[in-house]
Amino acid sequence: METHSDPGGLLDKEIQEAVNEQIRGELYSAYMYLGMSAHFAEQNFDGFARWMRHQAQEELQHAMRLYGYLLERGGHVDLRAVEAPPTKLGKPLEVFEAALAHEKKITTMIHAIYDLARKKKDYATEAHLQWFVTEQVEEEGNAGLAVEQLQLAGDDTSALLMLDHRLGQRSKG
Ligand SMILES: [Fe+2]
Ligand SMILES: [Fe+2]
Repeated sequence: METHSDPGGLLDKEIQEAVNEQIRGELYSAYMYLGMSAHFAEQNFDGFARWMRHQAQEELQHAMRLYGYLLERGGHVDLRAVEAPPTKLGKPLEVFEAALAHEKKITTMIHAIYDLARKKKDYATEAHLQWFVTEQVEEEGNAGLAVEQLQLAGDDTSALLMLDHRLGQRSKG
C-alpha cells in the first residue's frame, strides 16, 4: 500500500523508522535508570535509588507515548532489541553525570526527528514531538541540578546523605 494513499493515516517510512528507534531509546533509558536504581539500592542510597526508579517509570511512559502515536497514525510498531546498560557504576556523582550525558544524547535524537518531521511537512509528528522537546529541557535540568549538588557535596558523607534524602523526596512511589 502506498503511504500517500491515505493522507490522514499511514505514516512516512523514515519518520516511522526514527520513531521506532526513539521507542528503543526510551526503553533503553528506562533500563539504564533501573540499573542505576539497583546500584544505589545496593549501596543503601535509598533516595537516589527512588529517584532513578521514578525516572525509569517516566521513560517507560515516554516509550508508550510514541508507541501510542505510531498506532494512532496507522504506523507500524517495530520493537527492537534493547541493549544492556553499563553494569559497572561508580560514585553518585559519576552515575548522575552519566545520566545527564545520556539525556543530552536523547535530546539530540528528539531534535533530529523534529527536524525530519519539519522537512517532510509532517505537522502532526512535529506537534507530538513538541511535548518531548519541552520534556527534555526538564530532564536535562533535573539531572544537571543533581550533578551540581553532588559536586558541591564532594566526598562529605553527611552532605551526600542529605542529598540522598532530598532527591528521594521526588516521588513517594
Ligand atoms: Fe525519555
Ligand atoms: Fe529521559
